[in-house]
Amino acid sequence: MAGGGFVSSSAGGTEFEAKITPIVIMSCIMAATGGLMFGYDVGVSGGVTSMPAFLEKFFPVVARKTQDPTLNNSNYCKYDNQGLQLFTSSLYLAGLTATFFASYTTRTLGRRPTMLIAGLFFIAGVVLNAAAQDLAMLIVGRILLGCGVGFANQAVPLFLSEIAPTRIRGALNILFQLNVTIGILFANLINYGTAKIKGGWGWRLSLGLAGVPAVLLTVGALLVSETPNSLIERGRLDEGKAVLRKIRGTDKIEPEFLELVEASRIAKEVKHPFRNLLKRKNRPPLVISIALQIFQQCTGINAIMFYAPVLFNTVGFGSDASLYSAVITGAVNVLSTVVSIYSVDRLGRRKLLLEAGVQMLLSQVVIAVVLGIKVTDHSDDLGKGFAVLVVIMVCTFVSAFAWSWGPLGWLIPSETFPLETRSAGQSVTVCVNLLFTFVIAQAFLSMLCHFKFGIFLFFSGWVAVMSVFVFFLVPETKNVPIEEMTEKVWAQHWLWKRFVEEDSDVEMEGRVGVNGKGNGSN
Ligand code: BGC
Repeated sequence: MAGGGFVSSSAGGTEFEAKITPIVIMSCIMAATGGLMFGYDVGVSGGVTSMPAFLEKFFPVVARKTQDPTLNNSNYCKYDNQGLQLFTSSLYLAGLTATFFASYTTRTLGRRPTMLIAGLFFIAGVVLNAAAQDLAMLIVGRILLGCGVGFANQAVPLFLSEIAPTRIRGALNILFQLNVTIGILFANLINYGTAKIKGGWGWRLSLGLAGVPAVLLTVGALLVSETPNSLIERGRLDEGKAVLRKIRGTDKIEPEFLELVEASRIAKEVKHPFRNLLKRKNRPPLVISIALQIFQQCTGINAIMFYAPVLFNTVGFGSDASLYSAVITGAVNVLSTVVSIYSVDRLGRRKLLLEAGVQMLLSQVVIAVVLGIKVTDHSDDLGKGFAVLVVIMVCTFVSAFAWSWGPLGWLIPSETFPLETRSAGQSVTVCVNLLFTFVIAQAFLSMLCHFKFGIFLFFSGWVAVMSVFVFFLVPETKNVPIEEMTEKVWAQHWLWKRFVEEDSDVEMEGRVGVNGKGNGSN
């Protein structure tokens, strides 16, 4: 997912008696709204920034550059504007900052109040955005939405991983990512519709409709119960037990309850989770998680997710065709994520990542060559055949990302950290992701202006580097129980074995046969 925090136990953890109760179904709905909300925010900005009425109101300079052919601008630079990029990127910077606070509130106040805070931030952000009168209102609105993202992306996945029975926890991980992609697709579809509204207020509707998942998340947070893990962690043992009984739909919860209490005790003994993270023996998952997040953003995926309509417009598509093409790529993103759910435990992580590397690289090179030949500074006549080819290549790129780096960038970190550093590891993963998402959002349109078609060669270079990284340094974790990662994975790897063998000192001694629970503290 685009937010991390999941604890996937894949296999091996103890399976306790648990029914799929209404409260668990409710949790899945929560996952849907948290993911939809984030995806909607990712997808909505590119569409509105390609709407002339929106540009005229907030970015008149850009509006002039895109509409007046007599202005001697390069096609590639039409949208190059720091303010315009800030509209998109401010959300991620705010999200990054909010994650630190969210990590504190998740631990001290609980998962539920943190989700409520997220919902309220989202609602405030949506109101400011939909009613925006000037650029300041617009950016403050995006910042509030970003705070919502920071709080929601920390609390919702954690909430889900703690409330769901073990056997559906892994699936929920990718389901969250699927909902992010559905949110992006919804945003694209809505932009396509609202752009046709006469009177120039369609963009307000696009930004305002984010209020639907925002309200759902807020109401959801009011209705659900706190997780047993969080209650136990804060010393409310009786309440924790009662909630556990309610959500599992059975009275036979004693073994799971005792395990949660034990896990919570051990988690509390970890005095410095972040310092622990830096220990030599934790280097393999730490390096891999950080690298996966940086590389995920360096594929260039968000250049497409944020700016597809703007990009299609840059290379000569009309406004309508640009938004339409963004809908196509959005739909491919959703469908290919489903492919990932099906194949991740069959084919394995490495095969998906390596195949996708080849596919993404080839697609990007073809796009660069076509644009290099057909789109110059002052002529953007792609012609129908080449335009279709560009859209197809963008789709093959997006599909490869969506069945590999998209979900796996989140799944692999969630399943490789040991219990004592898992939560801290997830916080670092989320922060690195948001930081690099911010960088791409803030830099892409300027890079497009300077690198022109070469921007796609730039990203393809990164894809080559990350594929080599995967080939040598990312071991297969398919079907490996989360508690056996060290002996089955790291100790068998040509490089990582040196880190786990030579150093075994931990600040916390003790082992628990838990299925990844009770580790909510960061
Ligand atoms: C990434 C997001 C991206 C999304 C696209 C996620 O895994 O973290 O940055 O927008 O995939 O589907």
